[in-house]
Amino acid sequence: MLEKEPSRTALAAAGHRAAHQVLEKGRIFADPLALKILGDEGEAAIRRSSDNPATRGMRFFIAARTKVAETALAEGVETRGVRQLVVLGAGLDTFAYRNPFEGRLRVFEVDHPATQAWKRRRLGEAGIGLPETLAFTPVDFERDSLLEALRAKGFDPAERSFFTWLGVVPYLTEAAIAATLRTIGGLAGGAEVVFDYSDPVATLSPAARAAHQERAARVAALGEPFLSYFEPAELHAQLATLGFARIEDIGPRGLLKRFVGPLPAALARRNRGGHVIFAATAQTPA
Ligand SMILES: C[S@@+](CC[C@H](N)C(=O)[O-])C[C@H]1O[C@@H](n2cnc3c(N)ncnc32)[C@H](O)[C@@H]1O
Repeated sequence: MLEKEPSRTALAAAGHRAAHQVLEKGRIFADPLALKILGDEGEAAIRRSSDNPATRGMRFFIAARTKVAETALAEGVETRGVRQLVVLGAGLDTFAYRNPFEGRLRVFEVDHPATQAWKRRRLGEAGIGLPETLAFTPVDFERDSLLEALRAKGFDPAERSFFTWLGVVPYLTEAAIAATLRTIGGLAGGAEVVFDYSDPVATLSPAARAAHQERAARVAALGEPFLSYFEPAELHAQLATLGFARIEDIGPRGLLKRFVGPLPAALARRNRGGHVIFAATAQTPA
């Protein structure tokens, strides 16, 4: 991404979440701060979405991935002893400001320094207060040590942690992705992560490939090109070697089934596109 500019794709993703609150009434993912954090830009984001039916697929995917992440997080806190959340590449994510586990869950928001500074200004302008349990942690995944930056903000590697990493992996190099997964997989207290990724372009159906290429050109023009794609089986094998014992990969079919309902036969056969993955290291003995 551009060195000194806040992420434009972060604004676009937040626009999809805000539009989902209005156009689908937050049916998949309800976020009472999604519009507020956009301030004056909220109305325009909703208009762009309602005027353009082609945005529906991306809006669905963004709402679905966030719901998958927050559902797994809640289970992690309630049943697996998760005490720290790290929101990687947070953009305008609002979880920290509506954290239902205040007092039980510390939150670290990690983002590229320029995007994080921009978000902090926007939070002030929107009148969204900063909870005491939140620590802002500027990091460039391509250059910095994630663990060092987190430790400097009080992150405890010995406590079980949850990482969300939504809409970020496609924009990173494979080396930065591997380094981040190695850090998460190696944490002494155990860790869980939810992230999304795309199948290699050549494996998509012609219609999905055309839509993807159009999106790829758009984000490249914003200075944030897609850099990485994964073959699911290879990614799962890599995760296993990095210490992840439980891997649940929800492909396009699974997401539709979970959030839309039973699928027509033609759709049920297709499973290439965007995936959301939950991966967890083994539970440490209590
Ligand atoms: C599409 S936005 C997603 C934001 C948010 N997670 C969401 O779902 O709305 C991509 C995010 O990745 C961050 N990002 C991209 N490259 C990065 C890098 N090299 N280091 C740190 N953050 C990066 C951007 O700053 C931005 O916040």
